[in-house]
Amino acid sequence: MDIILCPTAEEASLRAAALITNAVRARPATVLGLATGSTPLRLYQALIQACRDGLDFSRVRTFNLDEYYGVAPDHPQSYRRFMNEHLFDHLNLNPANTRVPDGLARDVAAHCAAYEAEMRAAGGVDIQVLGIGSDGHIGFNEPGSSLASRTRLVALTPQTVSDNARFFATVDEVPRHAISMGIGTILEAKRCVMLCFGANKAKAVRAALEGGISQFTPASALQMHPDTTVFLDEAAAADLQLKEYYRWSAANQPA
Ligand code: F6R
Repeated sequence: MDIILCPTAEEASLRAAALITNAVRARPATVLGLATGSTPLRLYQALIQACRDGLDFSRVRTFNLDEYYGVAPDHPQSYRRFMNEHLFDHLNLNPANTRVPDGLARDVAAHCAAYEAEMRAAGGVDIQVLGIGSDGHIGFNEPGSSLASRTRLVALTPQTVSDNARFFATVDEVPRHAISMGIGTILEAKRCVMLCFGANKAKAVRAALEGGISQFTPASALQMHPDTTVFLDEAAAADLQLKEYYRWSAANQPA
């Protein structure tokens, strides 16, 4: 795991964006795994800027981590709509190359299997963007999720429902289920890039990066991934025991 501690979320987002734009420049048919939520918003703005500055996304394919179950793609809080509004509509992507699980899938198991098959047919995810939940989740893999889990229907925890209530008129409107890539699915990405910002993530970050690998902290599974970069701001890194070492090593990279 490469742990990159940045003074601000702004700097961390721009560094993560550079990693992605470099990959797309080197391989125009890059397959991106994408997340929703507040965390990647600045990163997505930077990708939009890169496209305006001439970076070609026309051959990029995308697979989103998750979608609320029972929510139509055009629902104001659907993750499909979030992605269209915050990223897809502003890039020269082929809309047919953007995939988000279907929250209205009738046969959920078949839909999840088809989603995974499509990822495999695309050659697998090259770079998976991740945020972390305050309970340590990645995607919607809540504490207790099998570290080998695949794309499936999951129940959200009360903590996640309450964290996400800010996007809905009332907490009662927050869906209780989602379709999410599994932890095993996420670990198959060639590279993972996790962004962790803000003091409310500090406890989960410490458990994920410095605790034992456990299904109680799903993000800790990334410790087993051979190519994961974690970008943190100071607030999210506040509880890290090896904080000074991460800072030192970032400042003393080989030439
Ligand atoms: C969203 C997702 C979630 C979020 C996490 C953090 O697609 O997969 O795991 O990354 O809940 O959310 P924010 O960024 O809103 O704090």
